Amino acid sequence: MNKLFAGTALAALMIASPGFAQENGQVEVLHWWTSGGEAAALDVLRADLETQGIGWQDMPVAGGGGSDAMTVLRARVTGGNAPTAVQMLGFDILDWAREGSLGNLDEIASEQGWDEVVPEALQAFSRYEDHWIAAPVNVHSTNWMWINNDALEAAGGEIPETWEDLIAMLDNFREQGITPIGHGGQDWQDATIFDAVVLSMGTDFYQQTMIDLDLEALRSETMVDVFDRMEILRGYVDDNFSGRDWNLASAMVINGEAGVQFMGDWAKGEFLNAGLEPGVDFQCARYPGTQGAVTFNADQFAMFSVAEEQVPAQLAMASSIMSPEFQVAFNTVKGSAPARTDISDEEFDACGQKAMADLAEASENGTLLGSMAHGHANPAGVKNAMYDVITAHFNGEYTSEEAAEELANAVEFAM
Ligand code: BGC
Repeated sequence: MNKLFAGTALAALMIASPGFAQENGQVEVLHWWTSGGEAAALDVLRADLETQGIGWQDMPVAGGGGSDAMTVLRARVTGGNAPTAVQMLGFDILDWAREGSLGNLDEIASEQGWDEVVPEALQAFSRYEDHWIAAPVNVHSTNWMWINNDALEAAGGEIPETWEDLIAMLDNFREQGITPIGHGGQDWQDATIFDAVVLSMGTDFYQQTMIDLDLEALRSETMVDVFDRMEILRGYVDDNFSGRDWNLASAMVINGEAGVQFMGDWAKGEFLNAGLEPGVDFQCARYPGTQGAVTFNADQFAMFSVAEEQVPAQLAMASSIMSPEFQVAFNTVKGSAPARTDISDEEFDACGQKAMADLAEASENGTLLGSMAHGHANPAGVKNAMYDVITAHFNGEYTSEEAAEELANAVEFAM
């Protein structure tokens, strides 16, 4: 899509669908949950607020990872018309807080004891200068594989645990006549695979390169190996991958056209929405070589400073999001783990239970790391600089050696 068209599309999306005010006010919610599974999860929140007499004005901006949503948001705030609540990831929340655009949720947070139940890794982004500014909805993670079960059975039924196993499975998928990897060529999707491949080189390497931005590590032979692996994976993607939305790539795995998708656990929302069952129709497993570690991203609703009469509805929304009932109802549909540590995993399916157990284990072992691709490792400037190099390499513009060098250069420039 060229830039001009993208701009027009964004402008069209900015005309939000009309909401309806109810007796207890209304919230205008900007988000990028537009796929079938995401919309089903969002409906849980909308319905919850409706039962409280709070109206919902929907402001969807399609585009996984949320970059387009953030562009629209910037225009709205610049125009002096901030939405009530905005779906947001990690460092973006802190950027808006620094600009003084966010409201204050301290009252509701202390009433509900958020300090005690929200994991510290999330609080790092939901609080600014000791004030609560955002309500955390969930914890997703990016280092997952979603495998079509029939294809896996035909390939011997073993979930790959190493790079070599993975390549053997992909070769087998090819022999079966299906597309080995269902993937959409969009920068954030390429970067989501990159998260997993970097992590598979070790948590120390992930920490050094993606979080500490150590230029030497970014230029290292190990980073060249990462790009080599990205290039090998690129060879298992179909010819029409360019620009494809992530949920269409999930659909390829769902209908057996592709064998596996490397994607965050929002993909599970698509599988569930299509009526598939984990462990029966599809398998969830950590990307080979990343078992025991988690690259996480949490969706939070950043609450903007709004007119005084809109504050009660805004606080009610924050309060609903953090209620244990909502955390179960929403996250079992969305594919994520709850944003509270005190929720039982009883209602969650096998993949959800694994997500929760993996998170707890990684948090305990110091192997819980912020996702670069989804805004939890570095601010947007650095993230976007990385996206550009990763995607250019994925599309054959750089050799692996050039890509490692360009990555370090781009990061150095963006820092
Ligand atoms: C968000 C998910 C969302 C995904 C695809 C991620 O950045 O955290 O909630 O489902 O993008 O749109």
